[in-house]
Amino acid sequence: MKENMKSKRIMELREIMKAYPKLVEDYSDQHNGLAQPPLAIPNKGNKIIELTKDFKHIIKNNDFLTLLNQRTSKRRYLNEALSLEELSFLLWATQGVKQVIGRKNHATLRTVPSAGARHPFETYLLVNQVEGLEQGLYHYLALEHKLEFIKSIENQIDRVTEAFGGQAFFGNAPVGFVWTVLPYRTEWRYSTEAQKYCLLDAGHLCQNLYLACEAIGCGTCAIGAYEQNLADDLLGLDSSPSSENDNEFIVYAASVGKVDTEN
Ligand SMILES: Cc1cc2nc3c(=O)[nH]c(=O)nc-3n(C[C@H](O)[C@H](O)[C@H](O)COP(=O)(O)O)c2cc1C
Repeated sequence: MKENMKSKRIMELREIMKAYPKLVEDYSDQHNGLAQPPLAIPNKGNKIIELTKDFKHIIKNNDFLTLLNQRTSKRRYLNEALSLEELSFLLWATQGVKQVIGRKNHATLRTVPSAGARHPFETYLLVNQVEGLEQGLYHYLALEHKLEFIKSIENQIDRVTEAFGGQAFFGNAPVGFVWTVLPYRTEWRYSTEAQKYCLLDAGHLCQNLYLACEAIGCGTCAIGAYEQNLADDLLGLDSSPSSENDNEFIVYAASVGKVDTEN
């Protein structure tokens, strides 16, 4: 085996992809009786935007086979705003809460699966063109199915493009979905197995976004290439290494816009 730094680093990082038998002494915080973390980050007193769950008028394509066959990564969007109904649908399809269950400990059941129903993600939106919404950063309140306006970002398009690997189609997209992870939500139950589960869970959000976009005449492209520090900074998050329970950082993103369905 090559003993240079790169191959050592690759070897270490590959370990996160494996399933391990639990270490004997590695009891989770749930096992040790510690209180569970909150199911979601609550509204911090920001301006609230009501969302709908009435999606009948916006679905253009309900045929599952067609959706699968048409799904591609789409990076070119029409210069057209999304309606708030369309945005509501995409938020619901990716993180919508269908039920809150449990007596002692609680869990959410959502439109996507998640290991142990821990759902360790928050959804932020970088809005450029949505009817009725000013440009800026928003946060999805999944438990209430509402949106909160967080802040305007000066030179938003340029700063977002720079933070997301120079990918101008993301900075200019009508909406940028940005998903953060709070690993402790899953670590509380699964301890050192949780990090892999969080990464597996993230894929489900974006796959639902791809299919939901296809259903309403929109297109999306997953974004894994971004500058962690710059992007976290845009959202007001600290990306330094941390084992704190409230640690939150970006893990995935996706651009969204309307596409020309005729061609
Ligand atoms: C985890 C992940 C990260 C990705 N990151 C990017 C990205 O940063 N920029 C980009 O243009 N496409 C990105 N893509 C899209 C892929 O390039 C695309 O899925 C692939 O080329 C296959 O094309 P298709 O989605 O049209 O089938 C990403 C896809 C995935 C699943």
